[in-house]
Amino acid sequence: MQMAIDNQRQAFRRLFGRFATGVAVVLTAENGATEGLTVNSLTSLSLEPMMLLFCARSESRSAKAILKTARFSVNILSASQQHVSRHFAGARAGGLSVAWDTHGAWVSIPDANATFLCEVDCVHPGGDHTIIVGRVEKILGPEYPTRPLLYYEGNYACLPGESI
Ligand SMILES: Cc1cc2nc3c(=O)[nH]c(=O)nc-3n(C[C@H](O)[C@H](O)[C@H](O)COP(=O)(O)O)c2cc1C
Repeated sequence: MQMAIDNQRQAFRRLFGRFATGVAVVLTAENGATEGLTVNSLTSLSLEPMMLLFCARSESRSAKAILKTARFSVNILSASQQHVSRHFAGARAGGLSVAWDTHGAWVSIPDANATFLCEVDCVHPGGDHTIIVGRVEKILGPEYPTRPLLYYEGNYACLPGESI
């Protein structure tokens, strides 16, 4: 019986991986230290007022920092920023040579395709994850995006075309 449940969970993960997404890094700064995580659970939620949400593991260290500061940036990555995604999805060992952009109390990733500076609006439980809803305070981004970083079936991907 347990086997069947494990199989169902595996199937849930595997088949959900067929939902191709972009990749974003959510960042916050606490006492000069930057914390963040890579997410693909990002969703726009409301236009009036402007709100977005993402889901983080309930045990997430970064989510705890985000809820403490009550402020975060969402940075939509380009295909050339795969190393940034890997960094914030991994052990954060070895550091990352990025000079963060700062906007008052927010930090963001330079050259992201879009950045949303948010205040935490509310939080909802969702099984083993927490749904974090942000009110968008400021939007930043280049006029023209470069090709986006994508995630599909557990692998990074990018749109076909000229390589970057
Ligand atoms: C493409 C991609 C998308 C991810 N999306 C999420 C997500 O939406 N929510 C989440 O909690 N973890 C997600 N992860 C895993 C986290 O980035 C990873 O577990 C990270 O180390 C969590 O850091 P934390 O312990 O500070 O929360 C994703 C990883 C990858 C590679």
